[in-house]
Amino acid sequence: MTAVKNIPPERLPDLLRRMPKAELHIHIEGSLEPELIFALAKRNDVVIPYSSVEELRKAYAFTNLQSFLDIYYAGASVLIKEQDFYDMAQAYFKKAAADNVIHAELFFDPQTHTARGVGMETVINGLHRACVDAKTLGINASLIMCFLRHLSEEEAFETLEQALPYRDKIIGIGLDSGEVGNPPEKFARVFARCRELGFHLVAHAGEEGPPTYVWTALDVLKVERIDHGVQSVKDPALMQRLARDRIALTVCPLSNLKLCVFPDLASHNLRQFLDAGIAATVNSDDPAYFGGYMNDNFTQTFAATGLNGQHAWQLASNSFEASFTDAASKRRYLDALTAVFASFENN
Ligand code: ADE
Ligand code: ZN
Repeated sequence: MTAVKNIPPERLPDLLRRMPKAELHIHIEGSLEPELIFALAKRNDVVIPYSSVEELRKAYAFTNLQSFLDIYYAGASVLIKEQDFYDMAQAYFKKAAADNVIHAELFFDPQTHTARGVGMETVINGLHRACVDAKTLGINASLIMCFLRHLSEEEAFETLEQALPYRDKIIGIGLDSGEVGNPPEKFARVFARCRELGFHLVAHAGEEGPPTYVWTALDVLKVERIDHGVQSVKDPALMQRLARDRIALTVCPLSNLKLCVFPDLASHNLRQFLDAGIAATVNSDDPAYFGGYMNDNFTQTFAATGLNGQHAWQLASNSFEASFTDAASKRRYLDALTAVFASFENN
């Protein structure tokens, strides 16, 4: 592990903001800010059951994952045309670039849109065009298509079929939506097919659900990363497995706070994963709904839990190591990280 020289605590927030980082867990529909929801509703003549941006923001008081998902799927109903998907993703990329995100892998939920009659090509072409244009902002971006786990495996197969003409625009497959009662093994056959097709595989597991869901995501779905995974601390054998196989966890502290997975940020268990040698990363999940993008997640979590410069290095380098990109890009990312840390250590 690269040793980081002492970073004075007062300089840590600035380092966290300036260090280059990869975001590996962002639902692009969760980046729809209330202002853009209202603008798109007007543009597309969609009626939303809120009279103002303020009233909508006031509704963002969640008690658990499902209470959030209900409002999140309603918010996505304003997305109709290819340009809407482009505008949403571009707005996210601008925020990400300001946070020194240099690599982003975006989740999208096609079933939320195709169920409303929006074409798969509309969704993917809009998002993909924004990913291409993200290069001008200094971000290497790609798409991970998620299946909604509250729906059936048959519907996931249909979604895969619809997406196959655009497979060169998708690097991976994920699994999201309501976790408890929808275990990973429900999607065993469709994930096996996606694996045969050569997609990278990830799944949400251990966000609210038990450690057994993390085990089956690994052993049945054969995913390469676990999204969230914070419930894994309840199972020491699972912690050893995650560490031994360098399975990355895409942890989302502000999401966990807003969805009441932890009572406060100081109680978050991110440090336990790092201490156990697990490749944890920090991510924003649904930043428009949870009150913060990448740098908010880093600075607030470090302030609340007392993490230090060494942890900052580890989290950023884990994000690059766990990303689905080539070795040369990973080396470039690490060089950029080294340069920023050097500028803080020497001055
Ligand atoms: N979809 C969007 N955000 C999610 C989350 N945090 N968990 C599961 N599904 C999601
Ligand atoms: Zn998520």
